[in-house]
Formats: sequence, C-alpha cells, structure tokens
Amino acid sequence: MRRVTLTQFLIEQQRAGRVSADLRLLLEVVARAVKAISVNVSKGALAGVLGEAGTDNVQGEAQKKLDVIANEILLLANEWGGHLAAMASEEVETVHQIPFDYPKGGYLLLFDPLDGSSNIDVNISVGTIFSVLRNPPGGGDPTEQSFLQPGREQVAAGYAVYGPSTQLVLTVGNGVHAFTLDREMGSFIYTHPFMTVPEETQEFAINASNARHWEEPVKRYIGELQEGKGGPRGRDFNMRWVASMVADVHRVLTRGGIFMYPIDEKCRAQGGKLRLMYEANPMAMLIEQAGGAATTGREHILDIIPSKLHQRIPVILGSKSEVDRVTGYHLEG
Ligand code: AHG
Ligand code: MN
Ligand code: MN
Repeated sequence: MRRVTLTQFLIEQQRAGRVSADLRLLLEVVARAVKAISVNVSKGALAGVLGEAGTDNVQGEAQKKLDVIANEILLLANEWGGHLAAMASEEVETVHQIPFDYPKGGYLLLFDPLDGSSNIDVNISVGTIFSVLRNPPGGGDPTEQSFLQPGREQVAAGYAVYGPSTQLVLTVGNGVHAFTLDREMGSFIYTHPFMTVPEETQEFAINASNARHWEEPVKRYIGELQEGKGGPRGRDFNMRWVASMVADVHRVLTRGGIFMYPIDEKCRAQGGKLRLMYEANPMAMLIEQAGGAATTGREHILDIIPSKLHQRIPVILGSKSEVDRVTGYHLEG
C-alpha cells in the first residue's frame, strides 16, 4: 500500500488551491515542532522533563517544565520561516513578535503548547492545540487586536495528541484529516481521511465534581443521561473524563459523544474554564468540519468576537444532536 505522508498531503492541498505555499510551510513547521514535543513528552523522567517549572503563566497557573519546553519549541520553530506575522500562546502574556532580523509573512499562529499538563506527571495523554488566522492588512507589527477575530476566520486548525501513538489532526477547511507519527521514519503518515463525528453516541465527558456549581440546563441534560434506560432518553450512557481536552475531543471525534466544560459558579467570574482562541476555536472548527457542533450553550463558538487574547468561554461540543439538545435546554431557560 502506498503510504501518503503529511508532506505529500499538503502538496496536494496546495495544488488543489486549498492552501498557499506559506500556509503549507507553516503547517510543516508546526508538524516538525510537534515531533520534537512528542520526543520530549515520551522520554518523560529519562529526560528530566517532568515536574514543575517553578513559574506561573499569565493566567496564574503553575507551569510544568513541559509547558515551558513545548512553548519554546513552537516559538523557535516558527520564528524564522517567513510565513508568520506574529504568534500568541497560552504561556505568553502578550503577542510574540517575529524577531526583526527574520522576514515576516501573512499568518498569525496561536497555540496551547501543552494541553492537559496536569496529566504529564501521571503519564496520561496530553496534546498541543493550534489555530491559524490571517494577519489583517494595515501595516505595522500585529497587535492583540489583530488576533481578535472570530473562529470562523480560521484558515487552519489542529491538534496533536501524545498518546500511545502520536497523531496530528488537521483541517484547512476541507474536512478533518489525521496523521500518525511513524517514529522510526520520523514522518506523519496519513491514516484517517475525512474523519466524521458519529451521530449516534452513548458517551459524555464532563468534570462531574463541578455538578453542584452547574446551571439548570446542564443539570437537566446530565441528569437525563444519568437516568439511563429508565429515564427520558430510554438508554444508558457512559461517562469519560481524561482532563486533557485534546484526548477527550479526540475520543469524541473518533467514536462520537459530547464534551462539556460549561459555565458554572466556580468559573463564572473568568467567563469559563477553557480558552477561546487556542482551545475552543480550533476544536470547534475541527468538530464542525467533522459534521459535529460546538456552542457555549447559547451561541456558536465560531461566531464569538473575542475581546481579549486569553479570554475564557464555556464549551459544549461533539455529536450534533446532543449539542443541539443541550443548547436547546439553555435557550428555553
Ligand atoms: P491546560 O493544561 O492547557 O491548562 O488545559 C487544561 C484544560 C483542558 O485540557 C481540560 O479539559 C481541563 O483543563 C480540565 O479541567 P479540570 O481539571 O477542571 O477537569
Ligand atoms: Mn489546554
Ligand atoms: Mn496548556
């Protein structure tokens, strides 16, 4: 069987007019950075990369060593290629400008370098999430304002999941495609063309320890699932919560289900738990491209006009009929 690499896939996308040469380079560079992160993640204790970095990020969260390492890898890999106007990262407070001695390009790259970092030290899957926007025309260095575009404007989005195998899942607006890292060859191989979120589902993912803080529509929806066969849904549902968004969304994308980090009384002051620009938006684009849906409970995530780089929002995504149902419960109230 002919093995198609990510490089070949991207060249074909470029020939079909779906990606520009610069976007192709950008995605190649992100994939290369992801391989380097994967090597560090998988070496674990052997490379001394586990544990706390001893610093806090802009959001007041304690950084793990691998948060810092993954962030550095992505920033350094993407600075010199000439494809980017600027970058933004969960781990960096403001816009990361391209050093003046490198050429600049037309794209903005945003990322969560290491998602699920509370899972690193216990050897559970973590990931990297990224989003690509166009730098709005207008000259000068990009500012925070340049990044504040709704998710519908994303030209590409994806994530890597560092699990038993490392996979890169990608959309350039033409379906969702996944690649598995062949570690010996060092190449991503095209293994999952046109992934779709299965419509029929029996799994839900939510941090149930927050149940007492949830709003009524979420209590109602989860309550109905928990009632199982004897309840209004007439069948049993199963629950999963990895606490790495990448791993939970990857499961939803692979075998269906719904993932929720809704607004609750615990996170209301911050607007939610998950970050709009480098967690919710790229995942929402992937899920919509795979035939699923993504809302805050009240509006489509991709329609939100961001107000700041590190904005947080509620996230409900996955199989369309389930997302529609729980969104309907919110809108009834
Ligand atoms: P990060 O490690 O990038 O800060 O993200 C962690 C996020 C997300 O991956 C996960 O779904 C969620 O936090 C887990 O939150 P709880 O610990 O509240 O379950
Ligand atoms: Mn994250
Ligand atoms: Mn992170």
